[in-house]
Amino acid sequence: MSLADKDLAALSAEASGAVRTATTLDALEAVRIAYLGKSGKLTEQLKQLGSLPPEERKTAGAALNQVKQVIAEAIAAAKESLENIALSAALEQDRVDITLPARSEKPGSIHPISQVIEECTELFGAMGFTVAEGPEIEDDWHNFTALNIPESHPARQMHDTFYFPADAEGNSKLLRTHTSPVQIRTMQAGKPPFRFIAPGRTYRCDSDITHSPMFHQIEGLYIDKNIHMGHLKGCLTQFVQTFFGVSEVPVRFRPSFFPFTEPSAEMDIGCIREGGELKIGAGKDWLEILGCGMVHPAVLRNVGLDPEEWQGFAFGMGVERLAMLKYGIPDLRTFFDSDVRWLNHYGFAPLDIPTLVRGLAR
Ligand code: DAH
Repeated sequence: MSLADKDLAALSAEASGAVRTATTLDALEAVRIAYLGKSGKLTEQLKQLGSLPPEERKTAGAALNQVKQVIAEAIAAAKESLENIALSAALEQDRVDITLPARSEKPGSIHPISQVIEECTELFGAMGFTVAEGPEIEDDWHNFTALNIPESHPARQMHDTFYFPADAEGNSKLLRTHTSPVQIRTMQAGKPPFRFIAPGRTYRCDSDITHSPMFHQIEGLYIDKNIHMGHLKGCLTQFVQTFFGVSEVPVRFRPSFFPFTEPSAEMDIGCIREGGELKIGAGKDWLEILGCGMVHPAVLRNVGLDPEEWQGFAFGMGVERLAMLKYGIPDLRTFFDSDVRWLNHYGFAPLDIPTLVRGLAR
């Protein structure tokens, strides 16, 4: 038996009412099932259409389908609006709380090599030295010849040079074996007087406990009209005292040989070795710290300067060695392992240049 028109209207009204009172998506789904589901009230009516005489089936079917559509549309509209409400509620709840403190990142640290270069720049800067730079890929002339190290000189073999493949003319570039070629380039590019340091990477084909194939040096050059060994001694003594923060450190200049200086010396500083510990200061032991000397007249001539008019001193030192001595770092190889634990332990906070200026004022 099909529903009379007025019963159908009542069913439609009842369904619309149920849709309106459903305040959650679950409740709305329950309404859909109750009316349009497999055994829903309207579905049941549709199922019975088959039992009607054909002439009634058509009109009853059309009427039922229209009600079904109305209910389906009401449910779809209600669903959309409930979904919007749910979304707004979720957005409201998930809102980023910008008043929460940020999770802190662990800041990086300054590598001891950079720190020591910074310190030396500051310290020599206070003595009027600027900073010069030069290329790490050098040619034979700047790295050796201009520094008075001729072709056949044993010093060339001693440097264990890394060479690049030769070009068409048979010339090979090389990785600079020391920072001394920066002396040549800076003097060629400018006019005397010169007073600068040149920190940077250097390379030698050598790798063991005390040698790394890449290491760092700081070169120094002071050229003027009346520079003599007294200036060299005064300047470098001031340097070690300030750098190590020991005012009474004894120094010793031991005769040595470098082709680009004459006379040449190795500078030693006093130290005390006790129970595996090394302390810089007055004691019976000596520690070699750098090479230095009065710039050789041949080097000055090679850059077009008259050695009768200009003279001065030069020095060169290993940055790793300075860092190991000052900061008690026992093993050279650890410098370039990039081990975060090592960096956290031996690294420095940015701009932490301890006591240098105070040291100089003493
Ligand atoms: N270039 C030398 C080296 O690597 C170090 C050196 C010694 C530099 C004496 C100088 C100097 O400027 O005067 O072994």
